[in-house]
Amino acid sequence: MSKVTIFDHPLIQHKLSILRDENTSTKEFRELISEIAMLMCYEATRNLPLEEVKIKTPLTEMTAKKIAGRKLAFVPILRAGCGMLDAMLTMVPSAKVGHIGLYRDEITHKPVEYYNKLPGDVEERDVFVLDPMLATGGSAVDAIQIIKRSKPRSIKFLCIIAAPEGIDVLSKAHPDVEIYCAAKDDHLNENCYIVPGLGDAGDRIYGTVICLSLSILLIGVLLCACSDKGSTTSTENGALTEVKDDNGNLTGYERRYTNDNGDITRWDVYDADQTYLYYVLYEYDDQDRLQTETRYKAEGFAEYRYVYTYDDKGNLSEKAYELPHGEAQVYRYNADGEEIERLYYDTEEKLIKREVLEKENGSHTIRLNLPRNNFKDKAAAI
Ligand code: PRP
Ligand code: URA
Repeated sequence: MSKVTIFDHPLIQHKLSILRDENTSTKEFRELISEIAMLMCYEATRNLPLEEVKIKTPLTEMTAKKIAGRKLAFVPILRAGCGMLDAMLTMVPSAKVGHIGLYRDEITHKPVEYYNKLPGDVEERDVFVLDPMLATGGSAVDAIQIIKRSKPRSIKFLCIIAAPEGIDVLSKAHPDVEIYCAAKDDHLNENCYIVPGLGDAGDRIYGTVICLSLSILLIGVLLCACSDKGSTTSTENGALTEVKDDNGNLTGYERRYTNDNGDITRWDVYDADQTYLYYVLYEYDDQDRLQTETRYKAEGFAEYRYVYTYDDKGNLSEKAYELPHGEAQVYRYNADGEEIERLYYDTEEKLIKREVLEKENGSHTIRLNLPRNNFKDKAAAI
């Protein structure tokens, strides 16, 4: 389990109470986030190693201490994490900065990645991930997973308020990551907001909360629109829709989201009791060709992904079925769309089997099936 440090310094606690208050203005909220982050940075860098250096004061020479060449990187999780960044940089101006863009889907509460840029030399750096809120832990777990691919020296997670559920999830997923927070709150509510918490940190930092009267007006407009169209059977983008079998029996529900071209971008699947089962995200290239199709369990963990590759003429040339632990099967196609080859990779992404499919009497048959143990030399030649 991760080491968890809760900062009980009076200055931090005092500022946190003002931060939580619903009457605190956007300007004041932003300033307080920054001030708390600065105090937290001071505490979280307490163990940075020092080295002795010789310096000369106006009076004499002396042996003094400086931070021993540790390189740091700060990685805010967009958007709210950026509220903590300037303060951290004020304390450590030489740190490099990366950004991870994640937002919590409003229906599933699962993080959706939309941006990722890290310093090129992250493997030489101690990384501090910044996000004011650790709620279900999904965003932190995913962000750290992304950062770990670049093999940093260490990772610490700095948040202002943590829910017990989030601490649990994060420390199970990444036990090596130390967690620092200013408060461990009571629980998550049914919308996965931290209670007592402070509300939506991103909205409060950037002033994007819509006022209550406007919300009520919008809800009214939406309800009127829905009542004209019926409810669950609507095919509106993202509407909950019944799924029936050939005999007309209800088998479940789904939500489909499409982009401006009418292509599906997301598909949510529920059983007949409306228990959320899984969701699939679809990505397209600039020519509107499907690039990836990733299925996630309702809890937010990726189950598998299809990656599509096209030849110069735009025909599908390869479809890769990838599993989270590295296993993959790659299907290759000729220009007529016929499957010609299958490659199998193990968890270390090593090619372990290849099947060549050739036409025989008009249909495809597997001609070559190379088992794992005699495959090494031939694999190298592929
Ligand atoms: C908030 C917050 C965290 C996340 C925490 O971001 O800043 O990133 O939710 O929730 P979790 O632990 O359940 O994943 P949000 O998705 O609202 O995006 P924003 O920062 O752009 O407002
Ligand atoms: N994100 C927030 O901004 N606040 C919460 O309470 C939970 C997630």
